[in-house]
Amino acid sequence: MAEDPAMAGDPVLRLSEAGKGFNGVTVLDGVSLEVPQGQFVALVGPSGAGKSTLLRLVNGMHVPDSGTVRTLGENPAACSRRRLRALRARVGFVFQQFGLVGRLSALENVLMGALATLRLPRYGVMSYPHALRVRAVEHLDRVGMADRRFQRCDTLSGGQQQRVAVARTLLQSPELILADEPVASLDPAASMVVLETLERISAEDGISVVCSLHQIEFALAVADRVVALRGGRLVLDEPAAGLSAERLRGIYGTAGARDD
Ligand SMILES: Nc1ncnc2c1ncn2[C@@H]1O[C@H](COP(=O)(O)OP(=O)(O)OP(=O)(O)O)[C@@H](O)[C@H]1O
Ligand SMILES: [Mg+2]
Repeated sequence: MAEDPAMAGDPVLRLSEAGKGFNGVTVLDGVSLEVPQGQFVALVGPSGAGKSTLLRLVNGMHVPDSGTVRTLGENPAACSRRRLRALRARVGFVFQQFGLVGRLSALENVLMGALATLRLPRYGVMSYPHALRVRAVEHLDRVGMADRRFQRCDTLSGGQQQRVAVARTLLQSPELILADEPVASLDPAASMVVLETLERISAEDGISVVCSLHQIEFALAVADRVVALRGGRLVLDEPAAGLSAERLRGIYGTAGARDD
């Protein structure tokens, strides 16, 4: 589906000294980061550290004030609208609030993940091409939700809804998944199921995942690499293996967020 794949060997994501401020206040301060294909990166740091801002730079929702961002070989800040749309179709985004349509079934919500590639609006599951419906059910199966495919999403638990949201993202065939606190509103058990689902998909399909998280233990359990921001600066970037929870907890010290 990718029209313009990143050149072989290119990182999926490259931030070079990327900076961003709002109303004269610096929120991201010269952040450099490269993410190779297939890596699961946990992005941690206190509230206000700049995690969501970083993710928004990556998919072109924000433009950096300084430095550069390259996502899948493209510079989102320099893309035309059409090119940006094409780039975003290659980048899956998973939110804390799931973003599902509650009155629609799990299956129809997943099918909506393909709307960017279908020209006409669709009404009901049967209005989607058969092959797409088959793929949608396969993705629901991968996240353990195939048996719930006809259930309205507003009757699913939070963890189940987030897994449906992941399946919807998968229907996009993303080359990179950005997840902004995908488990912030879930209990620990449901959180782990969602994160392990993302981890498995990342490993099996070679999709890079950048996932912001507050729970240090979860970050260490599922990520290949942990990147920590504090006050808009990258303060730690290490493989998860061998990293201690204590060290990571230190990132969340009293001098955590930049509240100036
Ligand atoms: N559109 C905006 N306009 C003004 N300020 C903004 C905007 N977006 C973010 N900020 C500010 O930038 C800082 C970083 O915000 P960001 O949402 O990136 O933090 P975060 O690390 O994701 O925090 P949290 O863990 O609470 O989600 C905050 O101080 C926030 O108020
Ligand atoms: Mg955030």
